[in-house]
Amino acid sequence: MSKEIYNVTLIDGDGIGPEITSAVVEIIEAAEVKINWDKQLAGARAYEKYGDTIPNETIESIERNKVCLKAPITTPIGTGFKSVNVALRRHFDLYANVRPSKNLPAIKTPFNDVDLVIIRENTEDIYAGIEHKIDEETIHGVKLITKKGCERICDFAFNYAIKNNRKRVGVVTKANISKLADGLFLNTFREVAKNYTDIETHEILVDNLCMQLVQKPSQFDVLVMPNLYGDIVSDLCAGLIGGLGVAQSANIGKSCAIFEAVHGSAPDIAGKNIANPTGLLRSACMMLNYLGKVEASKNIENALFEVLKEGKVLTKDLGGNSTTEEFKKEIIKKLTK
Ligand code: NAI
Repeated sequence: MSKEIYNVTLIDGDGIGPEITSAVVEIIEAAEVKINWDKQLAGARAYEKYGDTIPNETIESIERNKVCLKAPITTPIGTGFKSVNVALRRHFDLYANVRPSKNLPAIKTPFNDVDLVIIRENTEDIYAGIEHKIDEETIHGVKLITKKGCERICDFAFNYAIKNNRKRVGVVTKANISKLADGLFLNTFREVAKNYTDIETHEILVDNLCMQLVQKPSQFDVLVMPNLYGDIVSDLCAGLIGGLGVAQSANIGKSCAIFEAVHGSAPDIAGKNIANPTGLLRSACMMLNYLGKVEASKNIENALFEVLKEGKVLTKDLGGNSTTEEFKKEIIKKLTK
């Protein structure tokens, strides 16, 4: 086994963040991957300590290590500080959000043949945060779409398909209504597709996609789309495979990557030792693949799948009554047997 030691920034987040992070770190250690975890703060706890939700220390750590595993961070709704997640994605230009959705063993859902990947553009659209108050009762919100942004995310989607042995890439827009902004996304996809003639392509409007996804999700493979549609559709897809607690994601840029579960900080169950670490663990598996630790990633995934299949030690959200601690220990038992 390789003795290489990796440096990874670790942000254990808010709410259930610290509980699920420590479980994931222990599982990775049990898989014998050597990581120097560079622990940093972001969000509410960082604000309390440094008066800043993303302190310079955290930014410098990610710049240095180029890879970060991040637990969920609480974002106040409507008021308060802006989303730390959006700010990190923007700062590091993490333009590609990758969210695979594939059925997990023994997690019962209406479908058993879901195997698709959402590639969400992660830096533009209404997430660019351009909003103006025209008067007290009128707000102007801008949907920013650029040719460069479209080109690189479409390129990413095709390259992802090739690397992961996928056959088909679909582009998702509302170009019948948003003729300029979504029109640019669609037309750029068509241009980029000419460089990838081995991959089949298709085009679908986002409303039709949602309907088709809840009727016959197996028809979809890789789907690329602008930021807001990607946000909404990927949560829908998490629902198709068992919910937010089990879904993983990666935010990837040219020079660094941040891996995180798709769920939030779940304040309703924080500190109770009942949170499911699966989403963060699967995100960590994506991180291990990114670091080239493909075998260790597979071993962890297999151990997780065994525990799920046996169905004896499951957290509450999966229909069991085990604690985070017990679930973690069971995965480690399978890993080290
Ligand atoms: P949430 O995902 O935190 O919770 C929704 C429901 O799912 C809750 O009932 C929660 O208990 C449950 N849940 C979520 N993760 C779970 C897990 N691992 N195991 C078991 N149950 C789980 O969404 P909510 O309540 O809308 O957001 C809470 C906070 O999280 C907000 O401040 C929001 O802004 C933030 N958030 C942060 C994200 C991030 O850092 N990437 C992503 C989404 C939300």
